[in-house]
Amino acid sequence: MNSNQVREGFIKFFEKRGHRFVPSSPVVPYDDPTLLFANAGMNQFKDVFLGAGKRDYTRAANYQKCIRVSGKHNDLEEVGHDTYHHTFFEMLGNWSFGDYYKREAIEWAWELLTGEWKLPKDKLYATVFETDEEAAELWKKVTDIAPSRILKFGEKDNFWEMGETGPCGPCSEIHIDLGEGICTKNHEHGVNVDGCGRFIELWNLVFIQYNRDASGKLETLPAKHVDTGMGFERVVSVLQGKQSNYDTDVFTPIISEIAKLTGKPYEGEHNQVAMRVIADHVRALTFAIADNANPSNEGRGYVLRRILRRASRYARNLDVREPFIYKLVDVLVNNMGGAYPEIVSSKGRIKEVIKSEEESFNQTLDRGLEIFAEVAERVEKSGKKVIPGEDVFKLYDTYGFPADLTNLIAQERGLSLDMAGFDKLMSKQQDRSRAATAKKISYEMTGSGGVRVGGSAVVSFSPSVTEFTGYDTTESEAKVVDIKRENDSYLLVLDKTPFYAESGGQVDDEGVIRTQESALPVIDLVKVDNKIIHMLGPHASEALAVGENVIAQVDSKRRLEIMRNHSATHLLHAALRRTLGTHVQQAGSLVAPDHLRFDFSHHKKVSPEELRDIERIVNEKILERIQLTHHRNIPYDQARKMGALAFFGDKYGDKVNVVQFGDFSMEFCGGTHVRNTSEIGFFKVVAESGIASGVRRVEAVTGGGVEKVIGTLMQRADERERERDELLERVKNLEKELSGYRLTAAMAAAEKLLESVNGDGVIDGVRVVYGVTEVQSDEELKQVADHLKDKLGSGVIVLGSRIEDKVMFVSSVSPDAVSEKHLHAGKIVNEVARKVGGGGGGRPNFATAGGKDPTKIREAVNSVPEIVREFLTKGRVR
Ligand code: ALA
Repeated sequence: MNSNQVREGFIKFFEKRGHRFVPSSPVVPYDDPTLLFANAGMNQFKDVFLGAGKRDYTRAANYQKCIRVSGKHNDLEEVGHDTYHHTFFEMLGNWSFGDYYKREAIEWAWELLTGEWKLPKDKLYATVFETDEEAAELWKKVTDIAPSRILKFGEKDNFWEMGETGPCGPCSEIHIDLGEGICTKNHEHGVNVDGCGRFIELWNLVFIQYNRDASGKLETLPAKHVDTGMGFERVVSVLQGKQSNYDTDVFTPIISEIAKLTGKPYEGEHNQVAMRVIADHVRALTFAIADNANPSNEGRGYVLRRILRRASRYARNLDVREPFIYKLVDVLVNNMGGAYPEIVSSKGRIKEVIKSEEESFNQTLDRGLEIFAEVAERVEKSGKKVIPGEDVFKLYDTYGFPADLTNLIAQERGLSLDMAGFDKLMSKQQDRSRAATAKKISYEMTGSGGVRVGGSAVVSFSPSVTEFTGYDTTESEAKVVDIKRENDSYLLVLDKTPFYAESGGQVDDEGVIRTQESALPVIDLVKVDNKIIHMLGPHASEALAVGENVIAQVDSKRRLEIMRNHSATHLLHAALRRTLGTHVQQAGSLVAPDHLRFDFSHHKKVSPEELRDIERIVNEKILERIQLTHHRNIPYDQARKMGALAFFGDKYGDKVNVVQFGDFSMEFCGGTHVRNTSEIGFFKVVAESGIASGVRRVEAVTGGGVEKVIGTLMQRADERERERDELLERVKNLEKELSGYRLTAAMAAAEKLLESVNGDGVIDGVRVVYGVTEVQSDEELKQVADHLKDKLGSGVIVLGSRIEDKVMFVSSVSPDAVSEKHLHAGKIVNEVARKVGGGGGGRPNFATAGGKDPTKIREAVNSVPEIVREFLTKGRVR
């Protein structure tokens, strides 16, 4: 039986018994801050167990993608060192929601394992909770298990809890004895012996009947349920007669690829551990990235980063220094893409993300390993066994070594870490960064998966659901369900509220809670466990009490801007897919009142032309005035069949909302939207950039945001114009100034001409001054001539100058020379200009002329004495 047949066989078995097949929910849980990753098949049914949600079936079966690397269920340390723990694994499960109970659960589990799959009855054991006589009796009654194989255990082994809070109950587990020699550890082998590889748990049947609340109390649930989970890789291994999960067809293709790429055999402890770790980790990375988690520095992203770095470090153990984990994705996708199509469609992106993470860590890995070796030597030399917190922190902070990676390497040398010292330095650093970004309602995941609202106090709210009225209104009359003090603020839960708490990228609403006397501003909002929690300031207590009626009023103008941007985000998404291709997938988004931001998978820059097309398409859709069709609370399957796009961790198997604009856009979405695209007003892209390899970001504005952007642009244009006018003014002034300097220089140079005026320069008693001067305009030339005239008194002046590409002459004759000698400035200057291919004329005492050939200017000017002489002799020129 291959692994695909095991999955199918399991589902068929339960379908025959009235169960509905429900697809796996994403490994990144939607809307459940108590959970970092899906850790059990029951996660997506949590609301049903708690009585807060309903399905249209009471029996379900599925195979679920799970990651157990944090919180209550954390298997990371074991992975690779044994052959049956994984970070990522699949869980086969069947459920009863207030339908059948212990009897059927036990009977069917036994029937499937021993009847259908023919596992040897004399190798199986059943465990029950120590006080659960009912289950123990049922095992004897409805199965043929030997009574000696029914064992009782306490809370640690046989009371199952999802996390610190949430549904829980006694459980009954089925274990298998893999046979002597499997476990080489020196301990008494047996069921529930820690770390025993011979007796392993196959299937857990949980009888859910309680909810553990945030204060740690068990509340009895309104109905009793069954929640089972079987380790898929383990059962495949048993069915295929293997002694290790890594020897089954789930893993062998990956292990072979690793052996091929590294040129090393899957043999010997050293190689085997490394290859198992890498084969395991690439699965966790692939599935998490496919569901839109990305390696980063906090939360979920940091868990992924740790997993990747751990894998990279083991790659070093196989002498691999280049990025190579990403190369395994192809084989994995070939093997599992049939059961999980999402990894097929995201393959390219997954590889790019892993590769770039590998590249960046490889840069510091070797140096980090060296530093570690130095530190370890120092510690060993001083006869100690503990690596100081500062060194652990330095490795983390400077070389990107997650503490658990350092711990792993330390263990290999028989050393441990001063984690208290490390934690202190870490929290100091976190405080520093948190101070800037903290959300005001602090809620944090407690170490083991619970949620703590508020700082020190564990705040528990009564288990109601807040009805969200904000799709239809921004104002609701509501009843106070709960109010809790938290330092100087109050945390308020209403039976219904129009306030939207940040989710799916859409930001918190703003507004007030009105009582008869006062209007209390809502400072912050958070949605936890289907409840919307409003944070109010210190005056809330005087005004509010449980049971009282209030009016919850959202700032509707601001909300409308948010809705514009949210609907525009959907149009943008559709336009991107239409323009760039359907490989475009949402990778994140921000919907704020003043702008929107949309991140998506695409391998190259979006060109300006493409952006213009995208913008045009969106604006076309706005002008088409498309009515919103808001499908609320429809079954997931129906939404999928309608063709709605689901990318961002939608809650599968549940009722979902779908937002549709005609035949252009249809997406799963819990956000708020305009009723008609025309309300968006106008859409304008303001930026496009790359934010990670294979991920682009478009930022845009709509409605009032466009007005603002246009306002800013116009203001900027006005400023530029003002700046330009000022500059022109300055240029003009400078030119004037410069011309002044030039004139002064030209005049000084021209004055030199006067020196030659005695002697040669006197013709027939008339003083003649002539020469070439350097000026830049006719006006300047005239001014120089005027200046000379004043200095000269009686006589003739002829000046030439090259102005741009032309030649210009000016002539001035003093009044006495005109009247007594009959000299004529116009005629003289015309004669001069003729020498350079030009001409001119004017009055007897002052005239100008122009010419074309600047190369002859000096020759022309030098002819002046001759021209004057001729004039004086003949009384005319020529
Ligand atoms: N929810 C149970 C488990 O994860 C079945 O083991």
